[in-house]
Amino acid sequence: MKERIEVLLSAEEIDSKLTELAETLYEEFGDEQVELVCALKGAVVVTVDLAKKMKMPVTLNFMSVSSYGDGTVSSGNINVKMDLDEDIEGKNVLIVEDIIDTGRTLKKLKELLLFRKPKNLKIVTLLDKPDRRVADISADYVGFTIPDAFVVGYGLDYAQKYRNLPYVGVVHFDED
Ligand code: IMP
Ligand code: MG
Repeated sequence: MKERIEVLLSAEEIDSKLTELAETLYEEFGDEQVELVCALKGAVVVTVDLAKKMKMPVTLNFMSVSSYGDGTVSSGNINVKMDLDEDIEGKNVLIVEDIIDTGRTLKKLKELLLFRKPKNLKIVTLLDKPDRRVADISADYVGFTIPDAFVVGYGLDYAQKYRNLPYVGVVHFDED
């Protein structure tokens, strides 16, 4: 089996979408400082590229979380593999995601961060796969709504590969 990547969103399309999103965020927050919380690892590329387009003062923070196994009956928890290194109380916080799929992890992450009393908590995601949603969660700002396909590139991986592709593509598994 060999993987073939079919381009879904070009680097140019992503770039202009991020410009649009940065403008929308400026309309929302004005010159207030915004803390970007990057959900590692997938969101690292979109976080950096979006941050460069944001006109207000921006701070960066990073968090790595995963949900407990799907089979667990409402564990009500997430596994925090790496936590933020600063308090978010009273801050404008914007969670940056690469993709929202079932939404399970993000829902728990949002609950966890809300508990820390930010002034404001919003979510921006580059990609949204609403057909796959299980948890009751949506992003405040969405780059692209995409169909239910497995995508890679621009931070997204398949077995840790392809995160460095400058575009987003659908993975096809061809017989050799
Ligand atoms: P969920 O929304 O809790 O199901 O998990 C979202 C996470 O699953 C994302 O942050 C990605 O790491 C991963 N993921 C979901 N869909 C894809 C995809 O199409 N390609 C690569 N990773 C994906
Ligand atoms: Mg992610």
